[in-house]
Amino acid sequence: MQNANSFVLVIDQTRSASNFYTTDNTYKVPDFSHYARKDGGSDSSRVYSYFMIGSMGLLSAAGAKATVQDFLSNMSASADVLALAKVEVDLSSIPEGKNVILKWRGKPVFIRHRTEHEIAEARAVNVATLRDPQTDDERVQKPEWLVMLGVCTHLGCVPIGESGDFGGWFCPCHGSHYDISGRIRKGPAPLNLEIPEYAFGDDDKLVIG
Ligand code: FES
Repeated sequence: MQNANSFVLVIDQTRSASNFYTTDNTYKVPDFSHYARKDGGSDSSRVYSYFMIGSMGLLSAAGAKATVQDFLSNMSASADVLALAKVEVDLSSIPEGKNVILKWRGKPVFIRHRTEHEIAEARAVNVATLRDPQTDDERVQKPEWLVMLGVCTHLGCVPIGESGDFGGWFCPCHGSHYDISGRIRKGPAPLNLEIPEYAFGDDDKLVIG
């Protein structure tokens, strides 16, 4: 079943090129004004929006924050600025068994607060049977926190959480199934979902980048 958050992202992927042209075939700049703050807030007060997914559907992640500039600023930033961009996430706002998606350097990042059952399931997999053999321990710093780029390793679509045949993520573009460790288990994708650079800070903070 497709959840609300994945729907938002899939819309972005499938946006038709015709949306960007006027009837006289000249290029039309997409309207991003709905991203802008209405109160004229300062750069330092800008935060990413990110979303939490779970069996209850889309939840507000109001308690969590990201400390980099917003997505549009990142899109226009120079490469050296982008290279330095880090996102700080308050993990205490993500309940066990929930996913969060945020944008980092223009890409989606999946964070899952895994349950004990999910950790055990990820560890029980026979690595020798995997297309891209990796133990679960090689993919996490703390077993309860799985942090991955949300970019399918086939052709770059955004997989859907809590979906697929292996209890992890499913990419609807060509049918790739990833397990609860983000490892490719079925379908055309050649590799596991990529793990970004990240570190745990004090007070339940996670810093990506
Ligand atoms: Fe994900 Fe092809 S892009 S399966």
